[in-house]
Amino acid sequence: MDKLAKALSKARAERAATLHHAPTQARTNPTPAELTHTSAGNVVQINETTLDINRIVAHRVRSKEADTFRILRTQVLQAMSQHGMKTLGITSPNYGDGKTTIALNLALSIALDLNQTVLLVDLDLRKPNMMEYLGLSAAVGVTDYFTHNTPIADCLIRPSFDRLSLLPAGKVMDHSSEVLGSPKIAALAEELRSRYPDRIIIYDLPPILAQDDPLVFLPHVDGVLLVVNEGVTRTNDLKASLHALTHAKVIGTVLNHSDVKRASRIEKVRRAMPLPQTIS
Ligand SMILES: Nc1ncnc2c1ncn2[C@@H]1O[C@H](COP(=O)(O)OP(=O)(O)OP(=O)(O)O)[C@@H](O)[C@H]1O
Ligand SMILES: [Mg+2]
Repeated sequence: MDKLAKALSKARAERAATLHHAPTQARTNPTPAELTHTSAGNVVQINETTLDINRIVAHRVRSKEADTFRILRTQVLQAMSQHGMKTLGITSPNYGDGKTTIALNLALSIALDLNQTVLLVDLDLRKPNMMEYLGLSAAVGVTDYFTHNTPIADCLIRPSFDRLSLLPAGKVMDHSSEVLGSPKIAALAEELRSRYPDRIIIYDLPPILAQDDPLVFLPHVDGVLLVVNEGVTRTNDLKASLHALTHAKVIGTVLNHSDVKRASRIEKVRRAMPLPQTIS
């Protein structure tokens, strides 16, 4: 077993302990979020070619890639249900590990489950990609709500997939961790969580080792999915990420960018992980 596999195996054991024994995360006492509308947002058509180009594949039928995300979906939903979780943050050690790609595919795959509504929130306020990957132009979002009190109902977008809603990041902001750590965003997170009790919320977060944004927002998510970039993520970075997530409930790890040539090595890692996924 190589170092990465060992680290993942160790993380698995620690995660099991964390999930069963970690105390409930302290939540910021929220003030009422300024949600003045309840409309579900505008329905926008998503272009299939754009999805293909950006590796958004979860909606495909009879597709190996989509099946992989269906497995991931089931495992994530089972873990969330088992631990009473409604909100999930997706992060990774570094930039470009595949967080947004995984977040979009996972959200889409969950929404395609007939019984489940999903809200995907882009909280990468400095470098948002969610809208671009769907071929949609920049729209008002979280930062506009924060800065100009833009009603969240005006920010929500309904793509042409049933049960999926999107909340864009909005205008790019450099002081993003101050925004994410604010009482106003805490109130927003609480409002989003409580508005529709059955809805799952997925937050696409920045990388945990590059910005403090995920750390300041973690108290508002129930669980975390850590994306690991096969062949790129260093063992030390994985360890540092898991250390940074000590007080979070990490429900699992997604091994992204897996290389078929390293299939046997990946297989060892798969067996070592509670969410055995290789996304290639
Ligand atoms: N499994 C994969 N195979 C091939 N390419 C991938 C895979 N996953 C993601 N990519 C590509 O890698 C690039 C980075 O992916 P993505 O934007 O999802 O990463 P990210 O972690 O969200 O990046 P950032 O930290 O900049 O937000 C994109 O071009 C994406 O299409
Ligand atoms: Mg991203």
